[in-house]
Amino acid sequence: MEDQLPQHIAVIMDGNGRWAKERGLPRSQGHLAGVDAVRTLVRECRNRGIGYVTVYAFSKENWRRPEKEVSFLFELFLRFIREEMPELMAQDIRLDFIGDKRDLPFAVRQALDYALRKTASNRGMVFTLAISYSGREEILQAARRAIADGLRPEELDEATFRSYLYAPNTPDPDLVIRTSGEERLSNFLLFQSAYAEFYFSPVLWPDFGPEELNKALGSYAGRTRRFGRTSEQLHSATEGKCYE
Ligand code: IPE
Ligand code: IPE
Ligand code: MG
Repeated sequence: MEDQLPQHIAVIMDGNGRWAKERGLPRSQGHLAGVDAVRTLVRECRNRGIGYVTVYAFSKENWRRPEKEVSFLFELFLRFIREEMPELMAQDIRLDFIGDKRDLPFAVRQALDYALRKTASNRGMVFTLAISYSGREEILQAARRAIADGLRPEELDEATFRSYLYAPNTPDPDLVIRTSGEERLSNFLLFQSAYAEFYFSPVLWPDFGPEELNKALGSYAGRTRRFGRTSEQLHSATEGKCYE
């Protein structure tokens, strides 16, 4: 369908370090500026009526970064979660989390659990933070839990498997955006992105504002999602019997 709004946007926020470097600033300043861009994204998506926004804030692989950068990022996550609460409540946004919670520092886990509980009944939009997230790990933990539950092989269909993913009730992303000119998934939502549309922007994450979001949405609106069908099928009411 054309002219459609994605129901779920997932964003690989990349380029904070380069943004800072371009300005002769430490990487931490890039991450700080990146937080402002997240705030803007959430507000803009909420105003546009997008149902789900997921942001990739920290990958499992990001634990390989210098300890100082990692601890700065977790301080930032802690502050962000605490400071965003009034705004999330005011905008009726539910916070969700995907990733390996066991990896999180205690204070972050505590603040996160509080925010998840407090926003649990909000209905305006779902805003999901991916922290210490790995798509492969998500798939593996799902398989492990399914086995631990004693599921027989023939019981494990797609719907059952999905119920073991981190956020089983969140629909697959329709649009995956990555900034900073990199064109890769970096282990993000591997299972869920099977039929996503991708939008790669050269803009560095801290500079990704409402205008850039409009460009991404414009690009998405002009695409035809076929899900394996032919374009004739999509445009005819006689779906299924047009094979000649
Ligand atoms: C994205 O920006 C933020 C995180 C991965 C936490 P980067 O920190 O990867 O910025 P670049 O890629 O070095 O510019
Ligand atoms: C991907 O960014 C992870 C996040 C945006 C959190 P990276 O900058 O870590 O990705 P790679 O390592 O360059 O692929
Ligand atoms: Mg990067």
